[in-house]
Amino acid sequence: MPGTAVIGLQWGDEAKGKIVDLLTSRNDIVVRYQGGANAGHTVVAGDKKYKLSLIPSGIFHSHVQCVVAGGVVLHPKSMLAEIDTLTKQGVSIQKNLMISDRTHVIFPWHLIEDALFNKVGNTEAIGTTMRGIGPCYRDKVGRTLAVRLGDLYQPDFQNRIAEIIEAKNRMFGGLMCDIDKSMGVPGLDVEFNAKQIVEEYLDYAERLRPFVADTTDYLLNAVDGDKNILFEGAQGSLLDVDHGTFPYVTGSNSSAAGICGGSGVPLHFIKKIIGVVKAYTTRVGGGPCPTEQNNDIGVKIRTRGNEIGTVTKRPRRCGWFDAVAVRYSVRLGGVDSLCLTLLDVLSTFDTIQICTAYELDGQQTRSFPSSSEALRRVKPLYETLPGWQDDLRSVKTFSGLPAAAQNYVKRISELIGKPVEIISVGPDREQTIEL
Ligand code: GDP
Ligand code: IMO
Ligand code: MG
Repeated sequence: MPGTAVIGLQWGDEAKGKIVDLLTSRNDIVVRYQGGANAGHTVVAGDKKYKLSLIPSGIFHSHVQCVVAGGVVLHPKSMLAEIDTLTKQGVSIQKNLMISDRTHVIFPWHLIEDALFNKVGNTEAIGTTMRGIGPCYRDKVGRTLAVRLGDLYQPDFQNRIAEIIEAKNRMFGGLMCDIDKSMGVPGLDVEFNAKQIVEEYLDYAERLRPFVADTTDYLLNAVDGDKNILFEGAQGSLLDVDHGTFPYVTGSNSSAAGICGGSGVPLHFIKKIIGVVKAYTTRVGGGPCPTEQNNDIGVKIRTRGNEIGTVTKRPRRCGWFDAVAVRYSVRLGGVDSLCLTLLDVLSTFDTIQICTAYELDGQQTRSFPSSSEALRRVKPLYETLPGWQDDLRSVKTFSGLPAAAQNYVKRISELIGKPVEIISVGPDREQTIEL
């Protein structure tokens, strides 16, 4: 199985970190290929809990090479902090981590731009993680104001930064005339100092030097050598910049569409795509979420599932499983099988609902609308299934699940049209049922 990918099928936080960690032992290399420190992936092993933002969730297996590929946007300070934290937790990083010299670098201005443009005018705020992700991708596409990690090691880095800072200071100067400072946007008064930023980033560059490599070349050699490579998606398919609920999305292709672009491996190398999906729905930040339960049901799911953002600590919006949205992500990503997570959270509900279709402007549909405004108008049509009272956290086999839980899993598989291969019934590696 040379190339396998694990991607989120909803709006992120589907427990991709847990699943990547589980599947790592069968692979030689684990690759993060898009996103940045907006991701928060959790791996729980016994009494140890690890939080990962930029480092692949395969890092706990010492035989595996972990690669941060060129499609990722890199905040060097966050990367160094993550390396330090994991090292202190006894995880071996030095020989196992490689960072692409093609990653685009996040600078202080990206964080300020994120705060400034998270909400423009009267439209709903995107509710970003404020990690500078969108602005860094914007500069990548714009090209002239972008800096890649490899540029930090070039002799003209100092001049390039000075030129970029001159342009950014002019931009921010103009903005200050227009934007009421009472908005309380942090850093608006800041004028970037080229000397200070060059010193800071050259220090990061020195500390990151042992990890920096041409990872495209490394991965293409691995492809030629028939190595098993696991691709770890960040965010979820519905946050994809092209195919998600635009503009309430992230800055990268977080559906399967991003795998080859972000890593550089050829399309035909990817032989299997595993879609990770929660047994219900969550979303953090703005944008439509048709099955959201702004009521006691939503509160109960949030409490039982501990649905608080890993990165920003915001309470996640919670609701019933949306089979229309997930079926769309599955078809979009060419997903082969499902990994259904957090099933244990649904214990103790008398009945459980699944959204099987939408009603949009009086018409029933199973298509996921391209427009967020249309998605706001849809009325979810539900099917009601019996719930179960039992605690699932120590169940080890499918047949060991209560009949109602088995029924729920089968119905999801049927509605989505794909087999469920893994069921997760708790955060720990051990709390997993393979089918
Ligand atoms: P990711 O971003 O997709 O990796 O997911 P997160 O780590 O942000 O969020 C998933 C959360 O659920 C983490 O706190 C996990 O430890 C936890 N978790 C993972 N699988 C399960 C499960 O099956 N049941 C429960 N109750 N928690 C889980
Ligand atoms: P993982 O990998 C959940 C959301 C933000 C916001 C939108 C845009 O842990 O699943 P951004 O900072 O990316 O510009 O924010 O995307 N978002 C996530 N939501 N899980 C994530 O990552 C997310 N990364 C970004 O809340 O709505
Ligand atoms: Mg997360």
